[in-house]
Amino acid sequence: MTDEPEIGAMKLGFIGTGALTAAIVSGLKSVADNSVSVLLSPRNEEIAAELAARYPDVRIADDNQAVLDQCDLVMLAVRPQIAHDVLPGLRFRREHHLISLIATLPREEIARLTAPAHQVTKALPMPMIAHRLGATIICPPDATVAALFGNLGKAIEVENSAEFNALSVVTATYASYFRYLDTINSWLKKNGVEEGKGRDYIASLFKALGSAPDMSPDADFMHLAQDYATRGGINEQVLRELTARNVFDALTESLDGVHRRILEIP
Ligand SMILES: NC(=O)c1ccc[n+]([C@@H]2O[C@H](COP(=O)([O-])OP(=O)(O)OC[C@H]3O[C@@H](n4cnc5c(N)ncnc54)[C@H](OP(=O)(O)O)[C@@H]3O)[C@@H](O)[C@H]2O)c1
Repeated sequence: MTDEPEIGAMKLGFIGTGALTAAIVSGLKSVADNSVSVLLSPRNEEIAAELAARYPDVRIADDNQAVLDQCDLVMLAVRPQIAHDVLPGLRFRREHHLISLIATLPREEIARLTAPAHQVTKALPMPMIAHRLGATIICPPDATVAALFGNLGKAIEVENSAEFNALSVVTATYASYFRYLDTINSWLKKNGVEEGKGRDYIASLFKALGSAPDMSPDADFMHLAQDYATRGGINEQVLRELTARNVFDALTESLDGVHRRILEIP
């Protein structure tokens, strides 16, 4: 006997079939030996039809209630505004194990809207889950949900919502990351480098840098920065100049602002 949850045998329901549901289902179905059967709520019609046509064991329920009636494990994947309209009208059972993907609603609020469901777990997957990349934060720790998302990249379980909220601030930095890369690429173009070559070179280097923390698991990010900033070298120059212009302080201030927004502090 093992306590490991059996992911393969699961029947998984979704309330809300939008971009994130499509990404999760695509990720699940890209696992070679998966036999998770999926029941989707009918909206969005087009996305649901496309997923059901693509995968044989993905079906579309008649309505939201049918998803709840036929599945014990259900992901709530509607927008927050819709959640307040839709969830109170549905009949939940005590046995329901709900995974709320609704980023901005606290777990306690979802639990209140879905009573008497006995287990409500928050999870924050990202669209790259479709390719089984990236990590999903889960709160509170939950072996079934961690196994499910662990199969689709990495699952990071956290004990409390304060930690969950702080970690979720990280997801506000993607666009700036790409803008950083675009700044480098634009500079290359200005200096006569062909678009495709610059893009390939940057993407390849940053992919390698992305694996540095895995290759040096004991080094924190500051140590990695120091490793690359050889004294008197060109990395040290850029780091020193950006630091002097308060680029990193500005980033910290933005993170504070996003955190306040997530916590709804005016
Ligand atoms: N996308 C992300 O990167 C991301 C990341 C983390 C968390 N989240 C969270 O995940 C949730 C879903 O996000 P999303 O990007 O997948 O949003 P989305 O693409 O807008 O999907 C939500 C889906 O809910 C459907 N819907 C509307 N009314 C419904 C109802 N009464 N019953 C059932 N379904 C209904 C919509 O269908 P129609 O199109 O027919 O209106 C839509 O397809 C949100 O709460 C968001 O905060 C998203």
